[in-house]
Amino acid sequence: MNKDVVRERFNRNPKWKKFLDWVIMNQVETRPRWFIRLLAPLYQHRGRHSVIHHSARMDTPPYRKFSLGDYSVIESYACINNAVGDVMIGDHTRIGLHNTIIGPVIIGSHVNLAQGITITALNHNFENSKKRIDEQGVSTSAVVIEDDIWIGANAVVLPGVTIGHHSVVAAGAVVTKDVPPHSLVAGVPAKIIKQI
Ligand SMILES: CC(C)(COP(=O)(O)OP(=O)(O)OC[C@H]1O[C@@H](n2cnc3c(N)ncnc32)[C@H](O)[C@@H]1OP(=O)(O)O)[C@@H](O)C(=O)NCCC(=O)NCCS
Repeated sequence: MNKDVVRERFNRNPKWKKFLDWVIMNQVETRPRWFIRLLAPLYQHRGRHSVIHHSARMDTPPYRKFSLGDYSVIESYACINNAVGDVMIGDHTRIGLHNTIIGPVIIGSHVNLAQGITITALNHNFENSKKRIDEQGVSTSAVVIEDDIWIGANAVVLPGVTIGHHSVVAAGAVVTKDVPPHSLVAGVPAKIIKQI
């Protein structure tokens, strides 16, 4: 049985999912248990000459996909989390120091992420005023970073955003909406300041 079929069965059956989640994830730390982290290279695609620095925090349980393309690098102190959605990274891409990526996120090839960036596809639900926020679950909307993009230090990319190819996000920007290809965006919320 291939890995995709196992993942789909897991995600369809709530009881089985709950049990396996307990086996795989430390329920207090909400990260994969140590033996699962050791096995990760066996169930994940890591491309030729790709590097994941030792201090990077890989919260990548096997029931979602994580893949890293050829010659791509995950820098020190970055955190990759695919617990609620796949994280797919292309070739020749650099996930910078102290970045946080929370799936579902697709990052293309030749993407350069500077330091301290957050790219998140996850929101906590909060609409019900009679329930605590941590009882209301989460929702996700995929983020797509196309090919050939540079994102400056400390930028934040929010759920549902697509950044078109050959674009630049200025340092400190908060990207709340889609960015068309060949754009330079800056500010909070990020606006187009230049066509490239
Ligand atoms: C966006 C950036 C690349 C500059 O691009 P540029 O085309 O040279 O833009 P300019 O410097 O001509 O600035 C154009 C306008 O955008 C504004 N601007 C530039 N960077 C900005 C930023 N990070 N946030 C908000 N506004 C910014 C400028 O003030 C200027 O506004 P004005 O026209 O009102 O004076 C640069 O400012 C930046 O953010 N670099 C990221 C650096 C980084 O993170 N390096 C980490 C190492 S990888």
